[in-house]
Amino acid sequence: MSSGSEDDALLRDAAERAISYLGNLKSRRVAPTKEALQNLDLLPQKLPEQPTSADRVIELLDSFGSPATVASNGSRYFGFVTGSTLPAALAANWLSSTWNQNGAMEVMSPVATRVEATVIGWIKELLGIPSGSEGAFVSGATMANFAGLAAARHAVLARAGWEFEKKGMDGAPKVNVISGDEIHASAIKAIMMLGFGTEHLIRLPVDAQGRIIPRSLPRISGPTIVCVQAGNVNSGSFDPFKPLVEWAHEAGAWVHVDGAFGLWAAASPHRRPLTDGVEGADSWSTDCHKWLNVPYDSGLVVVRDPVQLRGAMANPAAPYLEGEHPRDRFDYAPEMSRRARGVDAWSALMSLGRTGVADLVERCCRHASRFAKLLSDGGCEILNEVVLNQVLVSFGSDEATQRVVSSVQSDGTCWCGGTKWHGKAAMRISVSSGKTTDEDVEQSVRAMLRLAKS
Ligand SMILES: Cc1ncc(COP(=O)(O)O)c(C=O)c1O
Repeated sequence: MSSGSEDDALLRDAAERAISYLGNLKSRRVAPTKEALQNLDLLPQKLPEQPTSADRVIELLDSFGSPATVASNGSRYFGFVTGSTLPAALAANWLSSTWNQNGAMEVMSPVATRVEATVIGWIKELLGIPSGSEGAFVSGATMANFAGLAAARHAVLARAGWEFEKKGMDGAPKVNVISGDEIHASAIKAIMMLGFGTEHLIRLPVDAQGRIIPRSLPRISGPTIVCVQAGNVNSGSFDPFKPLVEWAHEAGAWVHVDGAFGLWAAASPHRRPLTDGVEGADSWSTDCHKWLNVPYDSGLVVVRDPVQLRGAMANPAAPYLEGEHPRDRFDYAPEMSRRARGVDAWSALMSLGRTGVADLVERCCRHASRFAKLLSDGGCEILNEVVLNQVLVSFGSDEATQRVVSSVQSDGTCWCGGTKWHGKAAMRISVSSGKTTDEDVEQSVRAMLRLAKS
């Protein structure tokens, strides 16, 4: 064991290295160099027989690990839907890692459970989710979709007189699961994990922006879950919640909203109309590690009727867990042990305030529109209506677009992924980092247009 002062020096060294890493983000290539990737081989591959000093462990990680990161915590990373980290959220994450609290139960960590309950309340308020609903932090929107859909299954089967958690699947009434054709892969994964069977998913037709078309919806009968989305991962579009919720509820169906990033539109008065009617749903999933710029991993599930979430997630009785408290989150989440995830999101919202979140959302949307304008002026085709932070760009033929995406990734000025949008290859730009500036957008567009011409 090392002495107290050696431990202090180790933590200071790690903090210094982290600060220097953050300082270099602006000027470094976004994708790691070939050399940095090769140097990953210099990290020991074999389990060491003997101890390694802690300072050497950190030195190894920083020397060979830091250069092989993707600079997604910088200001010119536009891949997938990836937030950077707000200073307060990152610092809180460091501090709470030091606390090493288990956020499962109030008795294990009064602060983790109290802060989690508080921040869930704040997020419900910002996103327009009814105040009586309840939820829990999970690893991300995939697990939030899983938990929301598990609550849905509990509820629709209970209404049909079937106690799913006790009786299981054998002999259970069939549950219909309906979504738009543009349902996100994570929701399909959740459907798969919950045993509904992806082949049975009923996919409704969508319009040119990927929104469910509310005309001629099918007749619903029997236990049914309808999965809609706030924020299409490609176009950023929103399903029309009002007519969909009305149609589903008339038939007693449950509505789950996958709002991984798009639900945050509700936090900006200007974009809030995009989410109109979302408050009528029964469950919602979202992420804080995307648009709120909280460190990984941080997702959130919220359910209108907390009894349904508890019904699906509550722990079976165990003597050593007795005497639990209403704030015990392990009765609302798939996990038992879990880190104090709420602390990071609480710190993000403390540091931003309501106006700061609105500004973060607006700024990213404004940058997305600017990307679309500058690229369109440069002769590119913008394939989506840019209503949020997502832009889909074509550079001509599918081959030309794929070539530009790959050149952008290896050039290193910025990073964007590729996708297919309604049969056509596209470059996806997702502006989800509060660090992105006008200059970052202009610098990135210059690189894209240069590479498109080369
Ligand atoms: C609409 C949507 N839902 C769900 C997810 C999955 O989120 P996570 O990776 O946090 O599980 C994403 C990720 O991009 C998404 O865009």
